[in-house]
Amino acid sequence: MSTVATATAYFEEQLSEQQIRQRVPNVPEKKMIPLFNKRKTSSRSFYSIRNLLFILIFITFIFILYSSLSLSPLLRFLDPYSYVLVLDAGSTGTRIHVYKFRSTIDNENGDTFVLKNEIFEERKPGLSSFADRVFQAEEQIDELLQIADKEVSRFKHRSTPLVLRATAGLRLISETKQKLLLESVSNTFKKYGFYRPKMDIAIMNETEEGIDAWLTLVYLKGEQFYGSRIAALDLGGGSTQITYNPALSNTSLAEKLNLLLKVQQPIEPEQINAFRDPSNKNKKQMPKIDVDQAGLEEIKPVKHIKQQDMSNNEKNLTEEEIVMSHMHQFRMFRRDIKLYSRSYLGYGLMIARQTIFINETNNKQLVDSHQLHSRCFVNGITGKFKFQDITWTVQAHEDINSDERFYSCMSTIDHYVSLNVQPAVGLDQMSIYVFSYFYDIANDAGLLSTDDDPSSVKTMPIRVLKQTAKNICRGSTTASEEHPFLCFDLTYIYSLLTRGYGLSEDVEIHICKKIQQFEVAWSLGLALKLL
Ligand SMILES: *[C@@H]1O[C@H](CO)[C@@H](O)[C@H](O)[C@H]1NC(C)=O
Ligand SMILES: *[C@@H]1O[C@H](CO)[C@@H](O)[C@H](O)[C@H]1NC(C)=O
Ligand SMILES: *[C@@H]1O[C@H](CO)[C@@H](O)[C@H](O)[C@H]1NC(C)=O
Ligand SMILES: *[C@@H]1O[C@H](CO)[C@@H](O)[C@H](O)[C@H]1NC(C)=O
Repeated sequence: MSTVATATAYFEEQLSEQQIRQRVPNVPEKKMIPLFNKRKTSSRSFYSIRNLLFILIFITFIFILYSSLSLSPLLRFLDPYSYVLVLDAGSTGTRIHVYKFRSTIDNENGDTFVLKNEIFEERKPGLSSFADRVFQAEEQIDELLQIADKEVSRFKHRSTPLVLRATAGLRLISETKQKLLLESVSNTFKKYGFYRPKMDIAIMNETEEGIDAWLTLVYLKGEQFYGSRIAALDLGGGSTQITYNPALSNTSLAEKLNLLLKVQQPIEPEQINAFRDPSNKNKKQMPKIDVDQAGLEEIKPVKHIKQQDMSNNEKNLTEEEIVMSHMHQFRMFRRDIKLYSRSYLGYGLMIARQTIFINETNNKQLVDSHQLHSRCFVNGITGKFKFQDITWTVQAHEDINSDERFYSCMSTIDHYVSLNVQPAVGLDQMSIYVFSYFYDIANDAGLLSTDDDPSSVKTMPIRVLKQTAKNICRGSTTASEEHPFLCFDLTYIYSLLTRGYGLSEDVEIHICKKIQQFEVAWSLGLALKLL
């Protein structure tokens, strides 16, 4: 059924009024001249007052017309900024991002958008907790939209896209309640008159999350989308995502992949070259946005492989068949972008802790009372964590020698990782950027610089994760007292990268949270698609 890797649409039908979003407005300015002429010919005051009124009404009319067609050259001159509003309805809160871009028109390159700033506000709790009090959901969205309303000048409303994406939390409530909640969001949206693109309110799929986070990274690094060797590795609570373009690697698979992709889609010659040419000539230049081409509903799998076939036989498929079945393509900036993007459900940090600890404890009574034991715990340390409304208490297995703890922990984790996670072909030739929980774990372990600047990107070989994990698991630092899960968490990300994706310890990774002061997350990538 679901072969299109985009979010589920609930409100696809659009008022035709909302679709007015012209780039080249056609304002009948010339009509003004005959009016002024007429006024001169009239000598009587009755007529001049009447005409004055008429002119006033006409000017107001022109102004309103201008307001609705806000990209008219005059207004573009007055306010050269473009705005995009993204609402992120997460499980713990709803956030609004107001992105402000400076657009410049360049006849050679088309429009270029530079991100000037971002306004970010959060309201708690998450939308899903209003499942039975829909009016409170409306209030929350209304409060957030008021912030946007203040930031975006009124005459820009009609051309400012507004979207909401719900993630984890909302997927867990019943479909009827989801619909009610999203309908109430839609009602609130109507009040503000922002531009509502197709699929403006939707529940997001992890694959879309992975791709949009990749777009964010590439944009913030100032690279071209079609030729970027950036790999984006995200680690959430419930799933982990990996996104990159393996066709840019020099593996034999890349050659096959390029051939397969070429055969499947007739592409103009210029685009084939672009796709196959990884050299990045204009590093400093911000990506070009093709306003006519960028769209929301265009991500689709490159090749259809039926879902049932995939889950049953994946181990029997050839390497390129597996990679091909996770290639996604969409059009952006006049180019076809093709990416391998994959989400492993059950491999987020919190769910991995839960699954592995329960399996290790292997005792129904203890599990029922939410008491767990793990090899990855330093003796005498107790930790608590919450996942999906259950708070688990975790302690060490008594019988593990501290020198063996890391290896014992690693083999348990390796076993779990190797059940599903597949090697990422050509990943070692990419620039690997890891963020979200990857960053938090490295930060807890003291691996990031102490100057506490979240805007700096820290680069290190994967080996460092292992060395640090060994020390922490042995209990030779006090790190576990402050962060009881650190022995597990560090070993888990080490295992995911090496045992899971098949990277060698010498490969370098870039650990980041922000780049140029902007958060590495999917919301900016989504905004870029809406410009
Ligand atoms: C997202 O959608 C795509 C296409 O429908 C599908 O292949 C993929 O499995 C979905 N991802 C998740 C995590 O559900
Ligand atoms: C492929 O990349 C690897 C790693 O960067 C390099 O060692 C090797 O020489 C490259 N091979 C070719 C044929 O370019
Ligand atoms: C994979 O292929 C082998 C033989 O090539 C076959 O015996 C096995 O049943 C297949 N596994 C699945 C899951 O289809
Ligand atoms: C749980 O542990 C057993 C062996 O102790 C192993 O066979 C099984 O695959 C493990 N399950 C998971 C999900 O790790």
